[in-house]
Amino acid sequence: MKILAIETSCDETSVAITDGDKLLCNVVSSQVEMHEKYGGVMPEMASRLHSENIGACLKEALHQSKLTFEDIDAFAVTRGPGLIGALHVGVQAAKTLAMLYNKPLIPVHHLAAHVYANEFIGQLEFPLLAVVVSGGNTEFVYMPRHLEFEIIGTTRDDAIGECYDKVARVLDLGYPGGVPIDRLAKTGNKHAYDIPQPLLHDGSYDFSFSGVKTHIINLVHNAKQKGEQINVPDLCASFQYKVMNIIIEKALRAAKEYDVKQVVIAGGVSANSYLRSELPRLLELEGISATIPPLWATTDQAAMIAQLARHLYKEKLFAPLTLGADPNWQIDDFRNF
Ligand code: KG4
Repeated sequence: MKILAIETSCDETSVAITDGDKLLCNVVSSQVEMHEKYGGVMPEMASRLHSENIGACLKEALHQSKLTFEDIDAFAVTRGPGLIGALHVGVQAAKTLAMLYNKPLIPVHHLAAHVYANEFIGQLEFPLLAVVVSGGNTEFVYMPRHLEFEIIGTTRDDAIGECYDKVARVLDLGYPGGVPIDRLAKTGNKHAYDIPQPLLHDGSYDFSFSGVKTHIINLVHNAKQKGEQINVPDLCASFQYKVMNIIIEKALRAAKEYDVKQVVIAGGVSANSYLRSELPRLLELEGISATIPPLWATTDQAAMIAQLARHLYKEKLFAPLTLGADPNWQIDDFRNF
């Protein structure tokens, strides 16, 4: 069974084709360079670039997999969450293809697909805890079995990736901020700056990162006003150590409370070197297995959309051609479209 999947939720236009469990191609056209000069994703520009690039990505995907549209058995697409205008481009493309070739249309939840990107490493073991950390979301999701998602904690304000990006902006480290902060953190002293850890001991699995962001913005502005130097590697190290440990400590607690067999990390922030090394190490001490996606699968791409679509196909979760995008689609509501 061959599935063609389309991803356009943010700033990557991507098309992947799978044949059974074989990934035939995963074409990714990133817009990061275009958004970089604005210090963040410009939604209007993202939609325009998706419209311009989607045709070429589809063509390249067919070329790489030596297939034609007639060979495809189902068309899958990211329906949400994401930027509304950006999502619409992918949804319209998938609907047009599904209609023209009279094949099922499979709407895919972007964050659930990030979780299923861990299947590129091995089978998921249930019950599991998914630590979903990205530019737009921070969620703990409990999964008793395949395709069952229960949100047990979420951010009350900013996402962790957003916090990284804002901190990087005030430190003039460019966009996106995760990679430069992660790199500089390796050379700094993690105890140099006192960074708050909101909600660490509140007993919930919720998060709050906007206060951390404001704390660092104020710290940098105050230093500038007083003519004091900020030690950037030290600040990156302190920030990373403190925010990642909120996630790590809560993940350990949730994994034990929910008695899970496996913890998977998902989303763009799962590329973080400290999270990737520290969380599996601490979970292993508790006898809980941990899976982290391969680095190429931490960023947005359609391979993960196709991977989850294979499960959805088995359940015949097909959409009518009236399907619309939903920028706020909740993971535990993924059957409603
Ligand atoms: O999942 P993603 O591609 O975007 C959303 O769909 O939201 O994640 C992008 C986010 C950005 O905020 C970026 O700064 C962050 O992931 N990121 C990282 C790292 N690499 C990317 N954050 C921390 N450490 C990293 N190594």
